Amino acid sequence: MGIFQSKGKVYKPAFEIDLGAESDEVYTHANVKAPRVAGFLVKLFVWILETWILGPIVVYILKKDNLVHKLVSFAEIPESPLFTATHDFEGLQEQEVTCIDPDLSPPERVKEAMGCLPASLESTLDSGFKRWTIKDFSRAYNSGKITPLKVANRFLAAVEESSAPHLQMAFFINCNTDDVLRQAMESSIRYEKGTPISMLDGILVAIKDEMDCLPYPTTGGTKWLHKVRPCTDDAVCVKKLRSCGAIIVGKTNMHELGAGTSGINPHYGPTRNPYNINKVSGGSSSGSAAVVCAGLCPVALGVDGGGSVRLPAALCGVVGFKPTNGRLSSSGVLPLNWTVGMPGILAANIEDALIVPEINLPHLQSSSSLANIKFARYGKWFNDSSADIRSCCDGALLVLSKHYGWKTVEVTIPEVEEMRLAHYVTIGSECTASLATHLEKMKYGEIGWDARVALQVYGSFGSRDYINAQRIRNRQMHFYKEIFRRADVIVTPTTGVTAYSLQQDAFRTGELDYINGAALVRYSISGNFLGFPAVTVLAGYDAGGLPIGLQFIGRPWSEATLLHIAYAMQVHNRYLHREQID
Ligand SMILES: *[C@@H]1O[C@H](CO)[C@@H](O)[C@H](O)[C@H]1NC(C)=O
Ligand SMILES: *[C@@H]1O[C@H](CO)[C@@H](O)[C@H](O)[C@H]1NC(C)=O
Repeated sequence: MGIFQSKGKVYKPAFEIDLGAESDEVYTHANVKAPRVAGFLVKLFVWILETWILGPIVVYILKKDNLVHKLVSFAEIPESPLFTATHDFEGLQEQEVTCIDPDLSPPERVKEAMGCLPASLESTLDSGFKRWTIKDFSRAYNSGKITPLKVANRFLAAVEESSAPHLQMAFFINCNTDDVLRQAMESSIRYEKGTPISMLDGILVAIKDEMDCLPYPTTGGTKWLHKVRPCTDDAVCVKKLRSCGAIIVGKTNMHELGAGTSGINPHYGPTRNPYNINKVSGGSSSGSAAVVCAGLCPVALGVDGGGSVRLPAALCGVVGFKPTNGRLSSSGVLPLNWTVGMPGILAANIEDALIVPEINLPHLQSSSSLANIKFARYGKWFNDSSADIRSCCDGALLVLSKHYGWKTVEVTIPEVEEMRLAHYVTIGSECTASLATHLEKMKYGEIGWDARVALQVYGSFGSRDYINAQRIRNRQMHFYKEIFRRADVIVTPTTGVTAYSLQQDAFRTGELDYINGAALVRYSISGNFLGFPAVTVLAGYDAGGLPIGLQFIGRPWSEATLLHIAYAMQVHNRYLHREQID
């Protein structure tokens, strides 16, 4: 088997590795050896992969060429495996925070959150999109200036317009007019009687079609999953929003099975980027990001298994927030992968992102900002992005340090590419294992072509691949914990590229574009594989006017601090805008 032999990397014990700025650790650039493929070639590729003898050989070569063998499968790793990234509640000391009593009901919690918001909210960001915040809606409802029913009607008209032939935004997989109007009517009556349930009463919320939400089927972006797995109840996150009076407006489009990052869905259409409809929206929570960007609703829920909330948020210029593993309930979310995926929030701004989930609350209203925040930055990794992204994110950090005195320490975070591959092996193994019994029963013809490629590769991973991936998880946990002793927050661009072009040849077959794919997930993995909270916020635009996201990754359970820092970035964006206008 000469050409098939792969030598594995021999890893040094994790504790021997220098994490300082001067460390001699090499930074491995993603070495993706796979050209972009779309249209007929994807089909041809699937046929080859699904043949008995040739298929496994091609998959083997792919894994070898893309370093899965060298860095994961055949590697020699001293550490034992770490199978899940759960974090104990440590005695985390945060500044300017209200800790939430876990016994509060969801509406009581929303009330507490409102108390932490800054007094004057400006409802227009510098994007040119008209977006109302939750507080804007709530004021307008309470004053009788507008009713939830009117807003719902406007929303439905906008959804219809977005599907017109000249737009075809493909925001939603399912949106039931009667159900939306019924909820809006009930909410309007509550306001009329002066008895709204909470600030979220009458607020429109969209849900990624990976979370259970009645009366809709949960398709996971497929044409078949809902037939074998009926939806019988709301997911816990959805229930909580409903109990606050929120209006659930439908199920948003997503990359099929979450098995990709472009948001091109062959069954329900590619979700287009509202900034430029010829660009991708990013995925897999593509519809949730795009509807918030377009201003159809202030918040949406997504699910993040490998950056799936943060990437599309960055590409669409909105806030994407993934709390610590275990902070939000995953009950009622498709179990596509167990140890890396969890719900997250997409919102037009930080204030709205903090009203929705159950987290400790940062005092955004306090003018005194956080003192002595220390950012960790790994220069080689930070710089592994397009020139526009690099300079924009660099500039953002400079401004934060100028305005708030926050310092940046240079560090080395080893084995970035190793972790990306280990995460890929993990998410792939978990995805096939969880779908196995369904897949046995179904006709492959119902699955999109690019998802079929993913399933073939996922299905090829064995126990050695999986266990080695978990040993890499253990190493990475060691590195990150050590970095979090030196700094409060790790700062990176959110993605290595901005929204790239949608190409017609991909619409029916999907596309295989692992180069852009790797650049999109480059900075996301630790949020999932290691369970740390992370948030992306708009930091500026590239030369083509497309949004650039800046990401903050925090210590376990430090969501309040993360949102506070992201809020500082957002405030800065508004100043910048004003300076430009003046
Ligand atoms: C894994 O699951 C999460 C949610 O559970 C989802 O966001 C992600 O896209 C899934 N990814 C894969 C490759 O299955
Ligand atoms: C990253 O890029 C900046 C310029 O944008 C440069 O000053 C810096 O030296 C680079 N850092 C590394 C580690 O390559």
